[in-house]
Amino acid sequence: MDSLLIRGGVPLHGEVTISGAKNAVLPIMAATLLTPEPCVIRRVPELSDVKFMARILTSLGAKVEMEDGTVTVQARKLKPVGNYDLIRKMRGSICILGPLLARQRQAKVSLPGGCVIGTRPIDLHLKGMRDLGAKLTIENGYVHAEAPRLIGADIFLGGRAGPTVLGTANVMMAAVLAEGVTTIESAACEPEVVDLAFFLNKMGARIVGAGGPTITINGVKELHGAKHEVIPDRIEAATFAIAAVVTNGEIQINGARPDHLHAVLDKLREAGVKVERKGLTMTVSRGKQLKPVDITTLPYAGFPTDAQAQMMVLMALTPGLGIITERIFESRFMHVSELARLGADIGIEGPSAIVKGGRKLSGAPVMASDLRASAALVLAGMAAEGKTQVNRIYHLDRGYEKIDDKLRRLGARIERVEEE
Ligand code: UD1
Repeated sequence: MDSLLIRGGVPLHGEVTISGAKNAVLPIMAATLLTPEPCVIRRVPELSDVKFMARILTSLGAKVEMEDGTVTVQARKLKPVGNYDLIRKMRGSICILGPLLARQRQAKVSLPGGCVIGTRPIDLHLKGMRDLGAKLTIENGYVHAEAPRLIGADIFLGGRAGPTVLGTANVMMAAVLAEGVTTIESAACEPEVVDLAFFLNKMGARIVGAGGPTITINGVKELHGAKHEVIPDRIEAATFAIAAVVTNGEIQINGARPDHLHAVLDKLREAGVKVERKGLTMTVSRGKQLKPVDITTLPYAGFPTDAQAQMMVLMALTPGLGIITERIFESRFMHVSELARLGADIGIEGPSAIVKGGRKLSGAPVMASDLRASAALVLAGMAAEGKTQVNRIYHLDRGYEKIDDKLRRLGARIERVEEE
């Protein structure tokens, strides 16, 4: 298994360009199953999750070509059964359920298992499909869905932790080909949902309200092919912004969407970070004095859970007491024990991490547990003195395009150690 070897203590300087958003491209790729015509998706990041999704679409009978950040998919005819082992391995693949049901009126998708950041149920996805008239059974770890007719409905998608991002995407993709009008209440407002709605509308869907809590979908008979450029990855942008600060450097972040980053930029400024915006460019540096801040993760437009671990590294380096409360996923503090190996002082009280910041970090071997935790460990390794080895970096390759190359170009001393 590959690992990253980081020699810390080097301030990052220079420019970085943000890649397309992983969480936008996965449902958009799934949406291509809704039409027999070809779809072209641009600014697709080279990530293992994207390759995985491409394999899933291929196993369902679609023709998928990937070249230089452009993915072309044509799902002229779909097979009734895909490669379910593949589907089981990636949570994002649950969003093929909606398109398959809409196009084929039946689907079989494996239930995603629990993962390290929480149990991650899909009850809300299933509720939405049932409300549209689908019959669902769960057998041997699979969801079997059938709907001779899908009929528009009023669907409430709010759950215990608020709206669901992929649930909203899934139901939206099923409803575009349903008869009549569907209203999704308590819909997720994330920019990735808006991007999907934008793509679906280019395909001929009639969706209004995406980006707000009420989405209205007028069902249409069929969709056609479309071309689309995926939005930039706001979590990658947040990660590089924090990297600039924790290494005491200055990074110009190009091609991001600062308007998708209000909560993150606001917290960074509150923490004393200097952020300068000019169009789609942000320049981020440490500022005069850092201050601890309290953060609570919330659905968009609140502070994103996917940037929580990275922000914890900044708080660990900032003198004073910072409290980070995780409200989206119940066990998303796996990085805490690994950060402790580097010398961070963080205690957990229920859903909150109490960060006693300002300790000096020193390099150590650490183990990445999930995607964003891995990013946090890389940031911490770059801020620490000495050598840090981040193991199990396949998590990072799932969601950050060539992160080691990008960091190296900014001056980081980071190398990939390949193991047989
Ligand atoms: C997506 C993102 C992930 C991000 C998360 C929250 C993708 C591929 N992944 O995941 O990076 O961290 O949004 O912003 O886009 N829930 C239920 N029932 C459901 C579905 C979800 O109770 O049927 C709960 C979850 O357990 C969690 C909360 O709702 O507590 C939010 O999860 P959700 O928005 O669905 O996350 P994902 O869409 O899976």
